[in-house]
Amino acid sequence: MDQQNHLSARLVVEDDFQVGAVHDRLFGSFVEHLGRCVYTGIYEPEHPTADEHGFRRDVIELVRELGVTAVRYPGGNFVSGYRWEDGVGPREERPRRLDLAWHSTETNEFGLHEMAAWLAATGGNELMEAVNLGTRGLEEALDLLEYANIPGGTALSERRRANGADEPFDIRMWCLGNEMDGPWQLGHKTAEDYGTLAASVAAGMRQIDPDVELVVCGSSSHGMPTFGAWEQTVLERTFENVDFISCHAYYQPALNDDGTRDMASFLASGEDMDGFINDVAAIIDATKARLKSTHDVSISFDEWNVWYQGEEPSKVPEGRGNWPVAPRLLEDIYSVADAVVFGDLLITLLKNADRVRAACVAQLVNVIAPIMTEPGGPAWRQTTFWPFALTARLAKGGTVLEPKLTADTVATPRYGAVNGVNAVAVRCADGTLAVFATNRSQDAPAAFEVTVPGTAETVEATTLHDSDPFAANTLNDRERVAPYANDSAALDAASGTVRVTLPPISWTVLHIR
Ligand code: AHR
Repeated sequence: MDQQNHLSARLVVEDDFQVGAVHDRLFGSFVEHLGRCVYTGIYEPEHPTADEHGFRRDVIELVRELGVTAVRYPGGNFVSGYRWEDGVGPREERPRRLDLAWHSTETNEFGLHEMAAWLAATGGNELMEAVNLGTRGLEEALDLLEYANIPGGTALSERRRANGADEPFDIRMWCLGNEMDGPWQLGHKTAEDYGTLAASVAAGMRQIDPDVELVVCGSSSHGMPTFGAWEQTVLERTFENVDFISCHAYYQPALNDDGTRDMASFLASGEDMDGFINDVAAIIDATKARLKSTHDVSISFDEWNVWYQGEEPSKVPEGRGNWPVAPRLLEDIYSVADAVVFGDLLITLLKNADRVRAACVAQLVNVIAPIMTEPGGPAWRQTTFWPFALTARLAKGGTVLEPKLTADTVATPRYGAVNGVNAVAVRCADGTLAVFATNRSQDAPAAFEVTVPGTAETVEATTLHDSDPFAANTLNDRERVAPYANDSAALDAASGTVRVTLPPISWTVLHIR
């Protein structure tokens, strides 16, 4: 039923019906050598807050507050031309190189050791390391694994120790290249060629360390012409030796013919992400059945976000003599509407927690990021910071409950009629209940009712919404948008029912004790 003036929705929470555990890695992020993510993002030795390593302390504090658990590094498209050896050893000897992916100059001032030290400074976040399968292959991947994970006694492990890391980095999760299906990728390959290479790299890496967790590249978007066939071919070749297949997805409002944007479909982007996950899960299952395998492969949604691709901030430098160091690139400023879509994507990831066991918001600082910085100046939270931080805080370590949701629908040009309210419930690690919800309608408030089991005593509702859905936090107005206590929330303890009004274009968390 389409009800554009007023929506209602109801979620029934039952502990007996569970989707699965919320894996810590669901709250991963991504640091690529791209634009100012590393340089003047996390690393800026001249900054007033810099520590002895040159890491910005103001950024470290925000990363901790964000609740990130794992960081994919060093790319991204960047990794497909990267020589990891350039980034280790004495700084003054490290070479400057062309970065073909982003038409920039890489100084290599920051590399693997710095990344490991920075992760320790953020509270021990996990490193998800990507190897270059664009310009490089098996030998270099094995060298990097030996350098990183073997305690000592070999040329490469001793080189690591000589470079200051006595203990191995012990990296568990490894990405076998990046977006190798994309024609833009340096060393782009057919599914057959990539699948064969990834299979040999995976087998070789396991000969060094049988317990590494390996991520094979899936499609760089659901809409790729090779989507589906790519997954099938790659998985057939690698299935027994990999633990994850990746999904990447970025959303932005499409431009209508009259120059306006299709906000209705944009607000329902979670529909596409959900379909993408279901499609990949079906291919995993079909491959497992055909191979008569007992092995499980999960999804690593290791790049997801809102990204205004093709617009001004994403235009890469051009010109034969123009290879800047750390240019301003992909510095999208996110609105409230973007944050609502972002929160909806997080809800979608949680709903699929049985299949998605790792996910990385792309990226972490400055580059399509929840955290922004100014060189020599402040760091601040984008609108998207809030749904991530509040979801991570409550959902980490919890269990996703099966979403039994009925909702009035809203019409979208791209997806047809979709639920006007999207929601998921998580039984938190401390036994309390968290419900995350979005109102995807552009003009109708939603009356949202949640029926909870057992006795509930209190409910706290926090909402992200603004009368101007395009409001954003900027350098000059860094706290323009923040979540607020939604006073409409009320608990009827006798019937175990929580009622709350969700304003149009909003994201809300209910914390029920
Ligand atoms: O996150 C920005 C870029 O998007 C990454 O480098 C690439 O993997 C993807 O296409």
